[in-house]
Amino acid sequence: MKYSNELATAKKAASEASKIIQKYASDQSFDIDLKGKNDLVTDADVESEQKIIQILQQAFPDDHVLAEESSAKSTLPAGRVWIIDPIDGTTNFAHKFPRYCVSIALWEDQQPKVGLVLEVASQELFTAVKGEGARLNGKEIQVSKNTDPSSSLIGTGFPYRSLHLVDNYLQLFKRMMDKTHGVRRPGTAAWDLCNVACGRFEGFYEYGLSPWDVAAGSLIIQEAGGVVCDWEGGENWLFGERIVAGNSSLRDFLLKEIQDCFEPEQLRK
Ligand code: IPD
Ligand code: CA
Ligand code: CA
Repeated sequence: MKYSNELATAKKAASEASKIIQKYASDQSFDIDLKGKNDLVTDADVESEQKIIQILQQAFPDDHVLAEESSAKSTLPAGRVWIIDPIDGTTNFAHKFPRYCVSIALWEDQQPKVGLVLEVASQELFTAVKGEGARLNGKEIQVSKNTDPSSSLIGTGFPYRSLHLVDNYLQLFKRMMDKTHGVRRPGTAAWDLCNVACGRFEGFYEYGLSPWDVAAGSLIIQEAGGVVCDWEGGENWLFGERIVAGNSSLRDFLLKEIQDCFEPEQLRK
């Protein structure tokens, strides 16, 4: 299998990071700092990230790293880049709400090649390699085949840093309540995307996201037969801060609803 060494190393890094996070979770002794409004970082985030980077750099010293707690949100350098979120769902972690993930992706020449999301509390491990399908704890997964919005479950996140689009978001939320089976907001975008990949959610949308939130989960969706795009229907979802994903019918449905609720200039960064 292509990228088998990369996937094995990412699994090892995630497993070591998970042990660090679990230790902090059971001791309940960590400092919480604020990077910005409602933007939390704990000792566990920092230590988890250091461990992941150490393991990846030891195995692949020439690769680049884009990691939440130590990198600027820039563009992707040419070549191979590991995109890392050491804890996706830090607010959940800080409040002892058991949904927080390690997310690790390898991108090469601007394309996703390997994706891994480990939900630490349940130890659900989602993985994908480009062209090789997607797996949950080693078992192949597929997106939902349900194409009917009215019997679909939709995942989203609530923006909490930049609130300038909230009125439009609430309008969209109202439509979702009216037109679908319901909306869920687990609080970890990486895991939300994986819930689309394994068919629990038919679709997902959110704005205000960073590359490390979506880099792994999006490949896992694509390899499970789903689709991902930005809010204009284009490819700028890694740095564009807006994403919509699902099986292709639900992605199309969500995209239309989003475009009805936001002004054209609000659909891009
Ligand atoms: C956050 C989570 C959350 C999403 C936020 C992200 P963090 O990541 O993915 O679900 O709504 O926009 O920033 O800060 O916990 O790594
Ligand atoms: Ca994150
Ligand atoms: Ca994080």
